[in-house]
Amino acid sequence: MLGFPRIPTLAPVKNTPDLVVAGASMTSPQMTSETGVDSNELAAKVREMYRAVAENPKGSYHFELGRDLAERLGYPPSILDEIPEAAVDSFAGVGYFFDLADLKVGEEVLDLGSGSGMDVFFAARQVGEGGRVAGIDMTPEQLDKAERLRSAAGFLQVTFIMGQIEDLPFDDAGFDVVVSNGVINLAPDKPKVFAGAARVLRPGGRLVVADIIAEVELTQSIVHNTDLWASCIGGAAQQDTYQEAIEAAGFRLELMKKNPYRFLSERARDASARYGVKSVSVLARRDGSKASKGK
Ligand SMILES: C[S@@+](CC[C@H](N)C(=O)[O-])C[C@H]1O[C@@H](n2cnc3c(N)ncnc32)[C@H](O)[C@@H]1O
Repeated sequence: MLGFPRIPTLAPVKNTPDLVVAGASMTSPQMTSETGVDSNELAAKVREMYRAVAENPKGSYHFELGRDLAERLGYPPSILDEIPEAAVDSFAGVGYFFDLADLKVGEEVLDLGSGSGMDVFFAARQVGEGGRVAGIDMTPEQLDKAERLRSAAGFLQVTFIMGQIEDLPFDDAGFDVVVSNGVINLAPDKPKVFAGAARVLRPGGRLVVADIIAEVELTQSIVHNTDLWASCIGGAAQQDTYQEAIEAAGFRLELMKKNPYRFLSERARDASARYGVKSVSVLARRDGSKASKGK
């Protein structure tokens, strides 16, 4: 694993050497975020929702899932065919960004909130066996599923790690690209997530995310509602604030584009119309000249 970030404090789980737990606790740290949302309650709701997505992807949800969604967002069907089908079934992202990521053979990639692993496997097909892809997620059932699929399909360049995207258990400057799909909106402390991404990227490295943001700041009644957060609405940052958080972490924003993502529930559609809640894909580059403000 030459050149792959070391994970010094991790212990193996269930004899699966490529699934490791970061830190000792599964409890979300009590975050004193500016949002005022109860971060422990939110983490519990997010885990519960994405446990269901991992275990029962054909169930009924208030958001779209799976292959039809992936194809509509722009994922090439021919590459989806090369990815474990069960990972595609549980895909719950909000945009396609691999056109922006432009992954090269041999690159090292980290996926924040990797879910059942579809984007990790997608990236692994692109970087090849000489590259490396790590996925980090806090929902055990998502990780278990991703690891089972990884092992069965023989993706040797892939590692899944349990942990929080706010507290990345990786060395500084070990990745070429950090990706994330539909996850950062769920994090109460977004500046901390971007700072961590900057820290683990090499100078000039790319941050490529699809996420939910809002054109207008959401009302406090929406922001304080953990159910709306877990549904990818309540945590949508206002667009300027989101861009500023990316830039404050030491990135240069290169591109932001709107994705053809649809909200299904009436409440989400209403928020989308009223506050301009939307999915975007973002490409930003870690400043090569000045040190990042990572932890
Ligand atoms: C909307 S799903 C997206 C999963 C995956 N990126 C995909 O496209 O299918 C959100 C995922 O992020 C994970 N997640 C949410 N907040 C997280 C956090 N603070 N730290 C780690 N994982 C988190 C959830 O467990 C869930 O698997």
